[in-house]
Amino acid sequence: SNHLADYLKQRIRTVPDWPIAGVNFRDVTTLFNDPEAFRVMIEAFSLDCTRLAVDVIAAIDARGFIIGGALAYQLHKPFALVRKKGKLPYRTVSEDYTLEYGSATIEINEDACAAGQRVLLVDDLIATGGTLLAAAKLFQKIGAEVAGVAAIIDLPELGGSAKLRDAKLPVHALCAFS
Ligand code: PRP
Ligand code: HPA
Repeated sequence: SNHLADYLKQRIRTVPDWPIAGVNFRDVTTLFNDPEAFRVMIEAFSLDCTRLAVDVIAAIDARGFIIGGALAYQLHKPFALVRKKGKLPYRTVSEDYTLEYGSATIEINEDACAAGQRVLLVDDLIATGGTLLAAAKLFQKIGAEVAGVAAIIDLPELGGSAKLRDAKLPVHALCAFS
């Protein structure tokens, strides 16, 4: 039994039939507005970061920013944004990826980090893994080393964490829902 995972799962709200019938949406806003749970979560990610010798924290628009910002502050590390297309004013690199229906594009600044730096990618949840895999490609394009990907929640049945591990990306999820 994993005490941390149970602690977090008890505090994550599940919204049935959202956004469509049959989906149980895992809503992490209940962790973000529980100060003790928020601190427990950031402490857990901090340990992973230290173990992976990370130089830069990068997080995914939008819920990933809340975790990544707190983590970067806690560890005194630089923070880089992975944004939805069209939001960054400076020179960017882009990556298209497929969603369950249709496609999406994410971007980073071309100077989001220096070549050779070790980046940890942070998001709230891994579903198909498409978003984090595209984010990893962005950092690889600018010459960074993706040290790992971290998420509060893995949905292993959707295959995303397996896909990320197949791409040689160490995956650290604090809990999982089946
Ligand atoms: C959700 C979630 C992850 C992504 C996971 O974001 O926060 O970023 O989907 O799905 P995947 O593993 O299949 O790629 P969403 O697109 O809902 O964006 P938001 O945070 O802006 O609401
Ligand atoms: N919660 C949050 N984001 C998501 C989910 C979920 O259950 N499924 C796919 N993206």
